[in-house]
Amino acid sequence: MNRREFSKSLLAALTSYALFESLFFTNSFSKPIRQKANYWLNRLNEYCNDLNKNSITPGEWQLQVEGLFNEIYIGDVLKFIDFENLIKGFEFPDLGVNTRPVKFPELEGLPEKTIYHKKIFGMKKGRAIIPHGHSNMASAHLILSGEMHLRNYEKLGEEDNSLIIKPTVDKIIKPGETSSISDEKNNVHWFVANTDSAFTLDIIMLDLIGKQYDIHNLDISEKEDLSDGKMRVPILDVKTALSKYGKETHH
Ligand SMILES: [Fe+2]
Repeated sequence: MNRREFSKSLLAALTSYALFESLFFTNSFSKPIRQKANYWLNRLNEYCNDLNKNSITPGEWQLQVEGLFNEIYIGDVLKFIDFENLIKGFEFPDLGVNTRPVKFPELEGLPEKTIYHKKIFGMKKGRAIIPHGHSNMASAHLILSGEMHLRNYEKLGEEDNSLIIKPTVDKIIKPGETSSISDEKNNVHWFVANTDSAFTLDIIMLDLIGKQYDIHNLDISEKEDLSDGKMRVPILDVKTALSKYGKETHH
């Protein structure tokens, strides 16, 4: 690069840095929040890269990302995803859940396009992220607001149009609490909003080990009990699953 090119690119870098500073940080983020976001997003990026390279297992990724969620004060996360603006005009469906993409602060040294997907999921009271299992994906969830009834199941096997599962988690989760899934641990999840509205922040890794991800909606109430708490549960198409599980009908 000659001197002229160098000063041009330096100028461009300075200009974009100044722009970025003014757009993202000058007014909306205090220095401590920026530092926390920097630490947090670098760690998240590292864990997701590790999983992508297969240098950690999905179960290890779950522990790391949930640990990261637990390290940060929920109020700081709400600030750096700009939760208040993100949920302005949020449309809550009558059945199931709606999502919105999240934009993390752009920070030096971090790629503009992340290898993980990041979204908030929101729903009204009694609505559900319907019971489903996953193949070749991992996701971690941080409760941002409201309360949810969370159920998890371990996936023990796949058969023609059904999964063999076993219950592992059945609890109410509140803001700051976490949950995660993968082929390795707690593969099936099911969330029902317990408050007027409820939101999660999801970090999602798709197509692990180069294999196309898949989602299996489950007809839990049609379970067939097997030995040792195991159950065989039919797989449902998404439309039937939503009409059956998208909204609680018993109250
Ligand atoms: Fe899921």
